[in-house]
Amino acid sequence: MKYSLVEQGVIQEALSKPFSFDIQPLPGAARLTELAPQRRGTLAPLSETLTQTAPRPGSLVVEAGQFSGRSAAEAVAARFGVRGRDVVFTSGGTEANALAIRGLAAGRRVLVGATEHPAVLAATGPEAEMLPVLADGTLDLAALEAALKRSSPALVAVMAANNETGVLHPIEAIAELCRQHGALLHLDAVQMPARLPFTLGAADSMALSAHKLGGPKGVGALLLRPGLDPAPLLTGGGQESGRRGGTEALPAIAGFAAAIACPMPEGLARLRDAIEAGVKALAPEVIIAGDTAPRLPNTTSLILPGITAETQVIALDLAGAAVSAGAACSSGKVRQSHVLTAMGYGAEAASAIRVSLPWNAPTDTPARFVEAWGGMRERLRARLR
Ligand SMILES: Cc1ncc(COP(=O)(O)O)c(C=O)c1O
Repeated sequence: MKYSLVEQGVIQEALSKPFSFDIQPLPGAARLTELAPQRRGTLAPLSETLTQTAPRPGSLVVEAGQFSGRSAAEAVAARFGVRGRDVVFTSGGTEANALAIRGLAAGRRVLVGATEHPAVLAATGPEAEMLPVLADGTLDLAALEAALKRSSPALVAVMAANNETGVLHPIEAIAELCRQHGALLHLDAVQMPARLPFTLGAADSMALSAHKLGGPKGVGALLLRPGLDPAPLLTGGGQESGRRGGTEALPAIAGFAAAIACPMPEGLARLRDAIEAGVKALAPEVIIAGDTAPRLPNTTSLILPGITAETQVIALDLAGAAVSAGAACSSGKVRQSHVLTAMGYGAEAASAIRVSLPWNAPTDTPARFVEAWGGMRERLRARLR
């Protein structure tokens, strides 16, 4: 039996729009950069699944040729080094992080990195012990070791890559310290896939989000090492082996699995480096947060001292460049970046913009961005004088 749930033309059009969480383009303005749109190859599997009957929870019977959440779980699992039965689909990275942290924390002290995403900081709560970072943004391993030695057992929640600076934490060393001290390690890996090769490795759990891979918004997954069973946040039907009640968002999950099969974009680090070199050549006073640490290839945090991030974002938006303030949240409100503050920046933390290159960034992006950025700086400096 088939249900025709959604007009496919409508959904195709909505899905192929770029995802913008802060400032919208001016009507008619030519965009210099687009925020990452959903990858084309993910649209067909998603819309095909819209017309499919929802399987009963835990049902092993799938109509011939129909998509099942379990086949998607196998695809996700194979890519990230886990077993299909240890993939729990969620509504995104926020829920996957919350499920791991709240579901595994019972009887454990919670240690959390100071530069974590708000989704992780909110899930760990005010009682969590904060782990400092070094000036380059990487986790302070000596502080982690000292915290782990104080008493056991612990749950450590850190990100694989930072969303504002792109800085990568030394995950192998962190995992080794956790192993030595009997601590569980949860990774917020939302920023990693589609940018750098990555697997669960020696961690215990990791959170993913499909839209960072060029997949649909509103779907993600928690990946677990065998034998780990977090207490569910949502109870009800026995979906996801009882780890997450509620009918699975099959179309979104199909798009997620398809995004995982898309090839990794190449050459982003070259474009990012050209942007940084171009901006530095125009303005030596610019600070690039975390540039001495290993970083994601597509993200840079540019600090232009003396000019607030909000002013820069608006000026660049008028020039067609969609960047965000260091710590813009989903409401578009700009706060001083807790990430840069944790790295030891003072007033400069209010002057950072985050440039994030989408998977489909054209090769002329650096030249066009640097021109727009230079024009913005000239106009704002003249206003300050
Ligand atoms: C590092 C990090 N963690 C978690 C999230 C939240 O993911 P989602 O929007 O899928 O809930 C994001 C979103 O951008 C992120 O960058």
